[in-house]
Amino acid sequence: MGKLNMATMLLMLSLLFVSIAKAETVFDIRSYGGKPNRDILLPLLDAFGDACESPTPSKVLIPKGTFLLSQVSLDGPCRKPVEVQVQGNLIAQTEPEDLNQEDSSWITFDHIDHLTLSGGGTLDGQGPKAWGTCGKDSDCNNLPINLMFNTITNGIVQDVTSKDSKQVHVNVLGSKNLAFQRFTISAPEDSINTVGILIGKSTAINITDSNIATGDECISMGDGSQDITVTKVTCGPGHGISVGNLGKYENEEPVSAVSVRNCTISGTTNGVSIKTWPASFEGSVSNMLFEDIIMNNVGNPVLIDQVYCPGNQCNAKLPSRVKINNVRFKNISGTSSTPVAVKLSCSSGIQCQGVEIADIDLTYTGDDAPEAVSQCSNVQPKISGKMNPPACSSPATTP
Ligand SMILES: *[C@@H]1O[C@H](CO)[C@@H](O)[C@H](O)[C@H]1NC(C)=O
Ligand SMILES: *[C@@H]1O[C@H](CO)[C@@H](O)[C@H](O)[C@H]1NC(C)=O
Ligand SMILES: *[C@@H]1O[C@H](CO)[C@@H](O)[C@H](O)[C@H]1NC(C)=O
Repeated sequence: MGKLNMATMLLMLSLLFVSIAKAETVFDIRSYGGKPNRDILLPLLDAFGDACESPTPSKVLIPKGTFLLSQVSLDGPCRKPVEVQVQGNLIAQTEPEDLNQEDSSWITFDHIDHLTLSGGGTLDGQGPKAWGTCGKDSDCNNLPINLMFNTITNGIVQDVTSKDSKQVHVNVLGSKNLAFQRFTISAPEDSINTVGILIGKSTAINITDSNIATGDECISMGDGSQDITVTKVTCGPGHGISVGNLGKYENEEPVSAVSVRNCTISGTTNGVSIKTWPASFEGSVSNMLFEDIIMNNVGNPVLIDQVYCPGNQCNAKLPSRVKINNVRFKNISGTSSTPVAVKLSCSSGIQCQGVEIADIDLTYTGDDAPEAVSQCSNVQPKISGKMNPPACSSPATTP
């Protein structure tokens, strides 16, 4: 056999293997009795069960159309990679028994390695049907989360929309190597507790090329968030991209290696922030990078708040015991809707260490004060590049 033929044969062989590896077995919910405008709980559970047991990579297909879905938990471990492709529009139930259960979620993925959620579809949490009641009896915390990723490894979530979750849209817990890309979150600005993506006790989580518009934080990184990369995300309305709120509970795990880059934040109450409670338990935040960020009409665009105490639920006189170390805010420009464009309010108990601010250009959009200001307390940041407003022109004021 000539060299060329050998090479051709190897090429063909490798193509064959690639196509075998890619051949997925498809489990279409219609084959399990799933019908438009009906509850597909049982068809989905059956299809997922078979996919999970499949000896080859598999795909669960929810086709185009509108389907109702009760609360469901899709549990691994599975034998091979599983893709759940949601092409249609899933509508959450709004029956009273689905609401106000503690720690509940609408769609849960649990203990799955190599999970993909994709398909271009929408997960509609039907929040407006629940928000009306929860404002009054303040039980919003127990409404279901749209999407729960619990102990997921090596996962991809792409081309899916989470709409009007009753509470937090997405919670990532105990997971590793999970990437969100081209992910959309939408809920009204006045919806309560509708954090976009809430991350806790998870490592190597990426969020890229995604749009988040909601009523609470777009992305919130709580204790044990490590190695988190956020790039090319647009955020707003909402409460910005934040680390926190830390120190309220004992034995919180450190937050470290978070990078937020190339993001645009618009019309939010905060921009990029790190928040810890006063009178707190010990904790640690280290190696944070916020870089190349555009702010459009954002309140508190750059914020470290170690006296975070909404509604005076704490003793603000005692310092936070969360240690903040190595934080860089670089190349952040645009407009601030509050006069305090930069506020670094560190703990009087443990000063922030290794804070750098570089190339900040933020202007105040209101006409009641001429200039934006920058406030600092208990921190001596390293300053470089353009600095508008001038860095640390006054001590941080407490609200
Ligand atoms: C997350 O992004 C980093 C840096 O771009 C990359 O090395 C890593 O493979 C990504 N992880 C996932 C799960 O996509
Ligand atoms: C940020 O955007 C610029 C210009 O679009 C691009 O060159 C750069 O690679 C991006 N950085 C990241 C981390 O995505
Ligand atoms: C600063 O950030 C903006 C917005 O992301 C970006 O377009 C620009 O290239 C960055 N500048 C530098 C010097 O990296």
